[in-house]
Amino acid sequence: MSSRREPEREEGSGGRAPRDQGGGGGTVSGPPLLRISSIETLYFDRIYALFGVSLEIEEGEIFTVLGPNGAGKTTLLRTIAGLLKDQPKKGEIAFGGRRIDGWQPEAVARLGIVYVPEDRGLFRELTVEENLRLGLWGRHDDNVATDRDFVYGMFPILRERARQQAETLSGGEQQMLALGRAMLRRPRLLMLDEPSLGLAPRVARNVYEALGMIARTGTTILLVEQNARLALGVARRGAILESGRVVLEGTAKELGDDENVREVYLGVGGSDASAKGWRLYRKRRRW
Ligand SMILES: Nc1ncnc2c1ncn2[C@@H]1O[C@H](COP(=O)(O)OP(=O)(O)OP(=O)(O)O)[C@@H](O)[C@H]1O
Ligand SMILES: [Mg+2]
Repeated sequence: MSSRREPEREEGSGGRAPRDQGGGGGTVSGPPLLRISSIETLYFDRIYALFGVSLEIEEGEIFTVLGPNGAGKTTLLRTIAGLLKDQPKKGEIAFGGRRIDGWQPEAVARLGIVYVPEDRGLFRELTVEENLRLGLWGRHDDNVATDRDFVYGMFPILRERARQQAETLSGGEQQMLALGRAMLRRPRLLMLDEPSLGLAPRVARNVYEALGMIARTGTTILLVEQNARLALGVARRGAILESGRVVLEGTAKELGDDENVREVYLGVGGSDASAKGWRLYRKRRRW
């Protein structure tokens, strides 16, 4: 039995059209779009994955959550998306001022919260075009053609590969397809789980250039990464998550200037994110 609350009133699938705002990817005003207050998420009712996490994501910004393996980054995104049944166990999640914790994933998605999982979530046996069409599912507005052009403009390779099965694409192309499909849903909040994972550095940089383009349309992005250098290069603000807790939060510049972040996440100053470096860091870190 689920005790999930349902939304009192659901918004249309498109909601506000972010692209029409000309937000510039950094202009922020008003209350946060997403407010996470002291959430606790457990697996099997006993394993704490998130332990009192609070974050505020403002409209139009890229906010990055950095952290090592097992920190709880994916769990955070899945909790927001409503994919973990009866979670968060405690705390609140509010989107655009309304509480959404406990909602079914479909209801969360209808608000314009689009989640691209680490494995990209593509239909591998469908073609590129068919995958993109799924992103357009349920949309009947006049902007479909414009949005498709936007995606093909951002990733011309997708047009070339339109009739190819998704599983025949390279890792980078698959990530582009996942991002393109997500954009066709006109997200109000785009949640990305490690978009650089498994990509060659050059390809990862291409994907990040595209994130910059997406941000310039005014789309709010919650970006989970292990690659701090790439993420801090595009983000306005961010947080470090370790063992299910936020240990540091600030602007991308503040995080990038922090001694611990530089040493462990950016590999500056002799050490790197190796197991040994991590152990030494845990001993002497200040948070
Ligand atoms: N389905 C699950 N069942 C039980 N425990 C889980 C499950 N998924 C994750 N966990 C645990 O929750 C904690 C957080 O995992 P999570 O996947 O959120 O971390 P992450 O920061 O995304 O790590 P990574 O960088 O490796 O993707 C880990 O200790 C993990 O073992
Ligand atoms: Mg993860």
